Amino acid sequence: MFKINWWKPLSGSVKISGSKNAALPILGAALLVNGKVTLHGMPKIGDVMTFLEIMKDVWVQYTFEWNTLHFDASDLKKDNLDIEKLKKIRASIFLLAPLLHFFGSISMPLPGGCVIGKRPVDDHINGLKRIGYSATMKEESIELDGSVEAWDRTINAGFSVSGTENLLVANVLRKGTTTIELAAIEPHVMNLIDFLRAAGANIKIRYNHTIIVEWVDSLSDGFEFTVVPDYIQSGTYMVIAALASEEYLDIENARIEDLYVYIEKLKEAGVKVEDLWNDTLRVFKANELNAVKVQTNVFPGFPTDLQSPFGVLMTQAEWTNKLHEVMFENRLNFLFELEKMRANVAMLNPHEALIFGKKQLKWGVTVTSWDLRAGAAMVIAGLIAEGATTVTNVEYIHRGYEDFVETLKSLGADIEEITE
Ligand code: UD1
Repeated sequence: MFKINWWKPLSGSVKISGSKNAALPILGAALLVNGKVTLHGMPKIGDVMTFLEIMKDVWVQYTFEWNTLHFDASDLKKDNLDIEKLKKIRASIFLLAPLLHFFGSISMPLPGGCVIGKRPVDDHINGLKRIGYSATMKEESIELDGSVEAWDRTINAGFSVSGTENLLVANVLRKGTTTIELAAIEPHVMNLIDFLRAAGANIKIRYNHTIIVEWVDSLSDGFEFTVVPDYIQSGTYMVIAALASEEYLDIENARIEDLYVYIEKLKEAGVKVEDLWNDTLRVFKANELNAVKVQTNVFPGFPTDLQSPFGVLMTQAEWTNKLHEVMFENRLNFLFELEKMRANVAMLNPHEALIFGKKQLKWGVTVTSWDLRAGAAMVIAGLIAEGATTVTNVEYIHRGYEDFVETLKSLGADIEEITE
């Protein structure tokens, strides 16, 4: 658990690390490269480390040099794949396309429901069936086998992020042209495309969420690639700056271009944001915040992963704020935790809530992390409560934020991790 002992104003700068949501599909795609690659900016976070542990079972070898990962999938085999390990992490889904490509069959546990709501994979499976594979649903797993057909195909990815990523990887070496309609175009999907292009894939992006994959014979290995910095982490630290800094925080590798809508919402709420160039943002402490309405959307809309940190900001804004989470039905659950800290919330339905401000959050409360981003939101709430706050279930936070406690300490926060 994390304990935030006392409110302390923060100052200094934060350098945003590589993106979890880019790193995981890139690691999956690196299997398809079937050789050595060097990946810079690889975040050392729980999800990446767990996924790399699973990779050992398919005979991948790797070493870390700081945040540079030397990855070698030349000896790929799937005999040791352990279903129990695969169940641990949703990112296992990124093994699907490369292992099907090399071995023609795979059995995967279904990445069942998760605390943020139902997480179906029908778009992944329908897309794989569309190019020739057969799928059999078992009670707790799905079995896929067969071989790809060599014809032009159009696939609907339903704006699913991991679905688009899986279908990209499944098609770069497939004979024929693949048109992926309703493709997700989140920055991490773009980073995966850049990785695949660096390996020789022929991928075109159209303005209307269409991605066209032209067949190439083979991919090449031996190249270096950099994982994009994490715009979700960046957005999290922006709220920390607006609520808990003494005057401002500087955020380096901020991914300003990926956060246009989010930054506009922060400004609408009254947060002063200054572009210092070189992808560094200076985000100022906001003494008065206006109420705003936020509705999450697929990229370039307001990111669902940032609605919980922003929800904490709303507790400090005057009058009535509205939060509308479009995608996931349980993702507003963090508001029940904020209510324990005396936030004034009206849940309209599982997707919509009103947050009434401005409310001094109560200290001396233990709150839990409902998911990775909601966990970070609890820490932000703790940073602005006047006394101690305890945040439990912090394994979630470790899954996606590199050195979160250390970074906050370096900014002056009085926070510690206590082994439960
Ligand atoms: C990814 C991100 C996660 C983020 C989410 C939405 C990774 C590793 N995780 O998750 O942080 O919150 O995108 O931006 O990148 N859906 C279907 N059928 C499918 C797949 C999805 O109906 O086959 C629906 C889901 O129920 C949900 C929406 O599509 O409502 C978004 O899900 P999806 O984009 O697939 O999320 P993930 O890729 O799991």
